[in-house]
Amino acid sequence: MSSFRAGDGGIGKILVTREQLEARVVELGTTITADYSGRAPLLVCILRGAYVFLTDLARAIDLPVEIDFMAVSSYGSSSRTSGTVRLVKDLDQDIEGRDVILVEDIIDTGLTLRYLRRSLEARRPASLEVATLLARDTADVERLRVKYVGFEIGSDFVIGYGLDLDQRYRNLAMIACYDPAGDPFTSAQ
Ligand code: IMP
Ligand code: MG
Repeated sequence: MSSFRAGDGGIGKILVTREQLEARVVELGTTITADYSGRAPLLVCILRGAYVFLTDLARAIDLPVEIDFMAVSSYGSSSRTSGTVRLVKDLDQDIEGRDVILVEDIIDTGLTLRYLRRSLEARRPASLEVATLLARDTADVERLRVKYVGFEIGSDFVIGYGLDLDQRYRNLAMIACYDPAGDPFTSAQ
């Protein structure tokens, strides 16, 4: 278990604790289990940020789920969006006729989600819903048709539980704000 703590380099205020994450993910899993009763949904994990959420969520769903992965890139190597989405890795399996649940880490502008929805809907799944760990309060989750949201957060850039800053901090057990002033990598450069 990662022993990073708030106050360690780059890790700012803790927004969601390990216990809150655990409890909310179990709630989402229970809801999905009820919603998909009698079906075998395919969980599509959006790499890399959603990998931690996916592993916990999948184990909280009491159904015969299948798992596949897709990778997109919308943020070069900084914390600002580049405004374009690129498909880096496609699914391995066909989703036609399947009940697909897209598993995301965070809905920020919604650009990535709109791209993914278009790409997946074209493959004619039986259904397509979205489960995101985080959504910004500025993201219009209703218009984006996001059915399952773990936590709503503000505009701070966050790290941990799969979310990164330049590929670091994904192994942090909680969701924290990124604190550039305390980051030994940035201050060393
Ligand atoms: P969107 O396309 O603007 O909705 O951005 C979604 C993607 O941006 C997410 O899947 C994340 O990979 C990334 N992202 C947005 N905000 C954050 C953040 O605060 N921390 C880490 N990654 C973020
Ligand atoms: Mg992502």
